[in-house]
Amino acid sequence: MCGIIGFCRTSEMWVAPSLDSAAPVVPLVGAMHQTLIANHAAGISVPIASPLVLEGLRRLEYRGYDSAGIASVDNGSLLVRKDIGAIAEVDALQQLGLMPGTIAVGHTRWATHGSVTQANAHPHTDMAGRVVVVHNGIIENYEELRDGLHAEGIVFRSDTDSEVIPQLFARELGDGCATLEEAVRLVCPRLQGPYAFVVLSAHDGGTMIGVRKGNPLVVGFSDHGVFLSSDVLAFSEHARWMVSLTDGEMAIVTSSGVRFLNPDGVEVVKIPSMVDCVWADVGRDGYGHYMLKEILEQPSVVSRCGHGDNDLLVDAALAILGARQVVFTACGTSRHASLIGRYFFSKVARQFSDVVMASEFGYFAASLNSQTVVIAVSQSGETADVIAGVKLAKEAGARVVSVVNRPSCVLAEMGDYLVKLGCGAEIGVAATKTFTGQISLFYLLAHAMVNKLQLGRSNLEQAGILLHELLQGLGDGLEPLALRLRDREHLYYIGRGVNFAVAMEGALKMKEISYIHAEGMPAGELKHGTLALIEKGTPVVAICPNDETHAETISNAMEAKVRGAYVIGVSDVESRVFDHWIRMPAVSSLLYPIIAVAPLQLFAYHMALARGCDPDRPRNLAKSVTVK
Ligand code: F6R
Repeated sequence: MCGIIGFCRTSEMWVAPSLDSAAPVVPLVGAMHQTLIANHAAGISVPIASPLVLEGLRRLEYRGYDSAGIASVDNGSLLVRKDIGAIAEVDALQQLGLMPGTIAVGHTRWATHGSVTQANAHPHTDMAGRVVVVHNGIIENYEELRDGLHAEGIVFRSDTDSEVIPQLFARELGDGCATLEEAVRLVCPRLQGPYAFVVLSAHDGGTMIGVRKGNPLVVGFSDHGVFLSSDVLAFSEHARWMVSLTDGEMAIVTSSGVRFLNPDGVEVVKIPSMVDCVWADVGRDGYGHYMLKEILEQPSVVSRCGHGDNDLLVDAALAILGARQVVFTACGTSRHASLIGRYFFSKVARQFSDVVMASEFGYFAASLNSQTVVIAVSQSGETADVIAGVKLAKEAGARVVSVVNRPSCVLAEMGDYLVKLGCGAEIGVAATKTFTGQISLFYLLAHAMVNKLQLGRSNLEQAGILLHELLQGLGDGLEPLALRLRDREHLYYIGRGVNFAVAMEGALKMKEISYIHAEGMPAGELKHGTLALIEKGTPVVAICPNDETHAETISNAMEAKVRGAYVIGVSDVESRVFDHWIRMPAVSSLLYPIIAVAPLQLFAYHMALARGCDPDRPRNLAKSVTVK
């Protein structure tokens, strides 16, 4: 829900193995000086940290954009600047990138506890301004901790749960006898709930410590210093090597370097991996919005999915086939993709499965056991409801297949089987290409279950080519359609079978980015209530390709039309019921969802533009939902 970043300029440089050579990666990270070499030549001017932190915040802005701030240490004093608004606005007001000091932390916030105010923006300090914290997650017992501190006379400036962290650190630091490291080790066991934080102290020229439990925190190594962040994207322009912290691990960064402690406080060596360049590639490539860029990337996503790792897919497929019960769990768009996966499993592999939305999963946990496979699907791999469900599943002895897009994420670590989408970074808050990636992957999994992976791959290849052709000409028709319908208050989306989740996804995109009420449903359900809402001109989008669902969906669209609906048909065959036809190519029936969703995403995109909304920054939504 929030993005955190810290950067500390180090006096010594990391040396990575030659990036051109095929030589295995050598351990670079460990005890503080083990792998650091060559002091920077004396006299090199030391750049300040804040511009790099500011740049990182801009790259993390998709995680939250209601307020932002940076703290740095300069000559033993802590400086904090923060405000409400998007990062560019806060920077314009507070000159974030000009803050002095070679060590700094920053935060971009998405409010959970405490409204959007300057006081509630991060970073947060203790009362005396000795330590400063940027935090992602929820301190579930913050009220109890706050009451205790309050009783000792400690004054709070914000309404956030986060502020208890620096206040507790300052209390443990006392009159200076304890080190920040000791204070962190004493405080962490008292914090309940998932978190990742970076704390910076003004002592000793600046010490920066990062700890995680449940929320991600990665360490990046650049030629100039060490980064800590909730996402590798924040530093991928500067660091080519990274490590992920695991739960309870601590990274301690000073100007001399970094060292790692395990949850018992024992120093450990961590092996770095290269920053994945596909993931790091986050430019807009000349497109006005990330969302448009990501919609247009879908043909290559489909074909990339077709070239994924065979062994991982087959392992997961065998586990699914061997299970007594198979349950998908996911939220939002990932849940819609799972609904389509469910049809694929049934149609291709005759394997029944169910989809339980992650926020409800806990209430079904009683029926999980060691014969269950839970397929946990999440683009970010961070969604709190999904992670909570997976914990319950594991406690019940179920096996977990994690399907994620972000390479280093909590869900990836939790799965018994891991399937990575490889869609590259998705920055637009509304999920688009990862939906297509997820359904492509489920298509392959279903084929892997019946030993027809190769057939699945070549079908996907074909679908990717057709999707590319479709996307070339779509905008011309959808822009005028959006202009015509932009003032409507309600839209309904219908489809049957494998197309019904496409209807749900089309409606979700419309709601999210254009703020029009939109509902998606199985076409057969329309007459069980919703028909009462259809009046003259109400747009009804019918996803009715020429498959087994076509005739019945057309009948349902007709029922709406005779009550005045304006019917938009998404199909490869024309029908007299359509007032507007979005023509798509014919494909084999199970592949229609991969093709049909793109026009709906683009329709929502044009509708958002026609209504003056920013599709990349929908109100009240964040890309990673790390709270329950
Ligand atoms: C929709 C959207 C959200 C996410 C949901 C789950 O466009 O972005 O509905 O799909 O928050 O997110 P992940 O897949 O990261 O678990």
